Amino acid sequence: MAVHSLAYLVIGAHDLQAWTQYAESVVGLMPADSTEDGVLLYRMDHRPFRFRIEATGTDKLLASGLECATRGDWETALANLQNAGVAVEKASTADTLARGFRDMFRCSDPAGNPLEIGWGHVAAGSPFVSPQAVDGFITLDGDNDMGFGHAVLPALNIDETRAFYVDHLGFANSDEMRVFMQGGPDDPGMSMHFLHAGSPRHHVIGLAQFPVPSGLVHTMVEVATLDEVGLALDRATGAGTHISSTLGKHTNDKMVSFYMRTPGGFDIEYGCGGIRPDWSKFTPTFTLKEDLWGHKWDFGQ
Ligand SMILES: [Fe+2]
Repeated sequence: MAVHSLAYLVIGAHDLQAWTQYAESVVGLMPADSTEDGVLLYRMDHRPFRFRIEATGTDKLLASGLECATRGDWETALANLQNAGVAVEKASTADTLARGFRDMFRCSDPAGNPLEIGWGHVAAGSPFVSPQAVDGFITLDGDNDMGFGHAVLPALNIDETRAFYVDHLGFANSDEMRVFMQGGPDDPGMSMHFLHAGSPRHHVIGLAQFPVPSGLVHTMVEVATLDEVGLALDRATGAGTHISSTLGKHTNDKMVSFYMRTPGGFDIEYGCGGIRPDWSKFTPTFTLKEDLWGHKWDFGQ
């Protein structure tokens, strides 16, 4: 398995102050020291950062950081892409170190979603302490780093994009879903694909067959208990954050979560209890009803 987990997101922003308030007061992320002007770094665990927010003037996802567990896996991913004729760019030493990787290259998937793919990481060297006393975000399964969560990316050419992740980067199918937004017997539904990597997280990358201006449908963070989810929901409503979806439980990964709008225009799914399948015994699913209960959507403005 070439890619193991989602290491981080790089997010372009027009309003860093809004992100500061949201990240620290609502999500409960820990601000980390940044030596770069116009860059906010936020921690969730033992890593130096999991969210990197850059003042670019535009709210747009700049990169999903995908991590390979070993140099060999990373070299396999790079070779697969080069052999397939995909344009890849080796990152500078400064950029690689800023991401906490040992080696890194950049490329885009066939839908144009920007990716940074690396291996090796440094530890922050100091404990994670949430400004909202969040006990901790779930990024480990024992000693196995599961990354910080998952990212669902737009892909109008969803079949081609899915093949890119499976054929070149070692992802595999966890679930295919049809989402029926129009209603009625003639609604063909929109496709969503959920792909797992080497780690036991149910999906690391999701693909959605609709356009999203921010470049990110949503990203998921996981906490240990339902109480932590409820406390986050209280912080979000108290801060006037738009709640995009009520509490609910997904059919595929069994995550109990709610969704809230970020200053970047995309949603954060804040949940607990996601399953961690044993991939040697796992049978992929096909989902026509996305939730066991809840998750009533309000897409807002
Ligand atoms: Fe999700």
